[in-house]
Amino acid sequence: MPVVGICSGKGGVGKTTVSANLSAMLTYFGSVVVVDGDIALPNLHALFGFEPSITLLDVLTGNANVKDAIYRIKVGESSLDIVPSSQTSSDIKNLDSFVEVLNELGKVYDFVIVDVAAGLSKYAIVPMMGCEKIYIVLNPEETSIMDAQRVKKVVDSINADFEGVIINRYRGERWAVAMAEKRVGSVAGIIRDSKAIRKGWEKGYVVTAVKPEAKVSEEFYTLARRVAGENVHPRPYGKLRYILRL
Ligand SMILES: Nc1ncnc2c1ncn2[C@@H]1O[C@H](COP(=O)(O)OP(=O)(O)O)[C@@H](O)[C@H]1O
Ligand SMILES: [Mg+2]
Repeated sequence: MPVVGICSGKGGVGKTTVSANLSAMLTYFGSVVVVDGDIALPNLHALFGFEPSITLLDVLTGNANVKDAIYRIKVGESSLDIVPSSQTSSDIKNLDSFVEVLNELGKVYDFVIVDVAAGLSKYAIVPMMGCEKIYIVLNPEETSIMDAQRVKKVVDSINADFEGVIINRYRGERWAVAMAEKRVGSVAGIIRDSKAIRKGWEKGYVVTAVKPEAKVSEEFYTLARRVAGENVHPRPYGKLRYILRL
């Protein structure tokens, strides 16, 4: 099944948060593996609250098989597989196997979600090349939307389908929804700024996996339905007058 990349222009907009929470919700729709494709700044394992021994880095450097780098957690009645990564101090010259690893996982799982590095360095572009579908995460800020616009141009130039924008840390900025749609593309998901998400990062747990009843989990569930192929649309809320900032 398709390999889905979660990308962004700016760092810190919430790619890892979205990758983890979306993946947990996708377990309601099929088998899921979430890959920490951000080998520049890997931290997916921290959000899941564990310290991995074998990681994607060992796989990419030829020291381990991808099967050995898969960790499993329970989400409700189902489970979620995680391929974490780890920090490297040296430049990784050969990233060729990255695309192969993603292809391999795509043959086994219903959904492969890849947390891609921010920006447009090779650490972002190479995993993007291994994705068939790409979502771009941004925050409701002008600079974030502009950075996303640049990434969208690159997505259009590679062999991947742009699936939409995910607005993260939303606090009712409807102008940003309009601006993102105009400058980047259709909005596939709107995720609120949430205290529970921040706490999850502090304590090392994924909110959707432990608090499926939270408002933010509902929003991730709607996004998961969309990623699973349902025709659902997020509903922007907030003050319409900000639309004037377009
Ligand atoms: N929906 C959200 N609500 C509140 N805080 C968030 C949300 N998403 C992300 N954050 C905060 O932003 C920080 C960066 O998010 P992260 O997912 O690591 O971004 P990225 O992977 O794009 O660098 C997190 O540590 C968290 O504190
Ligand atoms: Mg990240």
